[in-house]
Amino acid sequence: MLSYRTKWESEMTEKKTIITYGTYDMLHEGHMNLLKRAKALGDYLIVGVTDENYDRSRGKLNVIESTKKRVKAIESLDFVDKVIVEKHKNQKAEDMVKYDVDIFAIGDDWVGAFDYLNEYTHVEYLPRTEGISSTKLRKENFSMIKMGIVGLGRDTQDFINESKFVSNIKVNRIYADDFLKVKAFTKDNDSIKYGHDNYDEFLDTNIQAVYIDTALKEHYTLIRKALESGKHVLCENPLALSKKELKELLSLAKKEKRLLLSAVKTAFLPAFNQLLKELDKGIIGEIKEVRATRTSLYKEKHYSDSFIQQGATNILSAYPSLLVNKVLGKSKNITFFDQIEDGYDINNLIVTKHKKRALGISSVAVGMKSEGDAVISGTKGYIYIPAPWWLTKTFEVRFEDIHKTMKFHYEFEGSGLRYMIAEFGSLIQRGKQKSKMLTPSDMVGINRVLLEYNEVRKSQIKTQKEEK
Ligand code: CTP
Repeated sequence: MLSYRTKWESEMTEKKTIITYGTYDMLHEGHMNLLKRAKALGDYLIVGVTDENYDRSRGKLNVIESTKKRVKAIESLDFVDKVIVEKHKNQKAEDMVKYDVDIFAIGDDWVGAFDYLNEYTHVEYLPRTEGISSTKLRKENFSMIKMGIVGLGRDTQDFINESKFVSNIKVNRIYADDFLKVKAFTKDNDSIKYGHDNYDEFLDTNIQAVYIDTALKEHYTLIRKALESGKHVLCENPLALSKKELKELLSLAKKEKRLLLSAVKTAFLPAFNQLLKELDKGIIGEIKEVRATRTSLYKEKHYSDSFIQQGATNILSAYPSLLVNKVLGKSKNITFFDQIEDGYDINNLIVTKHKKRALGISSVAVGMKSEGDAVISGTKGYIYIPAPWWLTKTFEVRFEDIHKTMKFHYEFEGSGLRYMIAEFGSLIQRGKQKSKMLTPSDMVGINRVLLEYNEVRKSQIKTQKEEK
C-alpha cells in the first residue's frame, strides 16, 4: 500500500517530529540553545511562535517585537523546518494531532506545566540557559518610563492599579488643582509619592508622559501644555470638544514628535484586535452593517455646560464609533435621533453611512440600562459580541447553518486598562508616535460623531436663545 502514499507522507512517518512553542522576543542565545536541543531530539522541528493578541491575553504585555518580526527571525534559522503561529490555549493539543508530533519539547522553567500533553505525545523538558531572558534584554535595552497623572477622575485609581502590571511604566506623580484632595490622595497611595497643585511645576519634573483624566472641557488646554513641554500624552476621550482643536492637537503632537493617544481602552484589548483580524480575512463576506450599543446608569448632576459634560454622546459615543469606524471606515454622513432632558442628550441613536452602502448604527444613553452588545453583519454571516461588547472577551462568528458557528475567546486581566497602558509604554520605548491599534485617523474618526453633534447642539441652543 506504501506506493499510494506521497513521498512526503512516507518520509514524514519515518521522521521524528518535534514541536516547541515560545514568544521569542528579541531572539537570544537562550532561545537558540533551546531550539538546537529540541532539533537534536529528532528530524523535523516545528516552532510555534505566540501571536501578540494571545500573548497579551495571557498577561505577557511587554513584548517588543511584532508577531511578524518574531516569526521571520525563527524562519531564518536553517535548523527550523516549519514555523506556525500559536493563537489560543487549546491549540497545542490540536497541533499534536494535526502534525502527528512525536515529542513536545520546552524549557525546564515549565516543568510540570505541560504534563497534560502526554496524552497526545511525549513531553520533554529541556535545560534552560542560565543568565539570559527576553525580560532581561528588555530591561537592559529600554529604560523605565516615568509617568504622572493629571486630575482625580473616575478612572484615576484604576489606572494606578493597572499600571502596576506594566513593567516599563512607573506612575509616581499626580497633579490636580485642588490642593487638599491631592494631599489626601498621595497620603492614601504609597506609589504616588509626589502631589502637585501647580500644572507648570508638575510638567517641569522628570516625568516623560502624562495620563489625563479630568473634566472633558479641560482636556484640550492640559494636552496642549503637556505636549509643548515635551511629554507624551494619554488622555481620556474626547481629546478636544471641537474639530479645530482636535486637529490642532494632533498636528502639535506630530510637530513635537510626541505620542498622543486617546484612552479608549477597547481599541487595545486582545479580543478586539483579533476580531478585526478575522474580519480582514473576509470571514463574513462584505460587511454591510455595524450595530453597537453603549449605555450607562451613571448621570452627572453638577455641571453647568450640561450637554458637553453630561450628554450620552460626548461621554459614550467614542466606543460604538470605534467599532463602526474600525470596521467600516470613515463615515460619509451622520444622522442623530436624540432625546433631550434638562438640556442634554440622555439618549441618541446615531446612524452613519459608509462606503459600499454600509450602515453604522450606534446607540448611546445615560441614566438607563440596555443590552450592550454588538452585531457586525456581512453578506455571508455575522459576528455577535455579547455585552459588554466594549470589554471584548468573546465573539461568535455565526452563519445560516448554526453548526458552522465559530467561537473566539481571549481572556483579559483586571479592568482591561493594562493593555492600553502597555501599548502606550511600548510605543514610547520604541520611539513610535502612532499606534496601529488606534491611529491618528482612527482618533479623528471616532470623534467625528461627537464633534459634529456638539456643533448641532450649539446651533440648536443658540436658536432657542434667540427665539426667547
Ligand atoms: N528559554 C531557554 N533559556 C532561556 C530563555 C528561554 O531555554 N534563557 C526557552 C524557554 O524555556 C522556552 C523558549 O526558550 O522553551 C521560549 O521562551 P520565551 O518565553 O520566549 O523566552 P524568555 O527569554 O524566557 O522570555 P520572557 O523573559 O519574556 O519570559
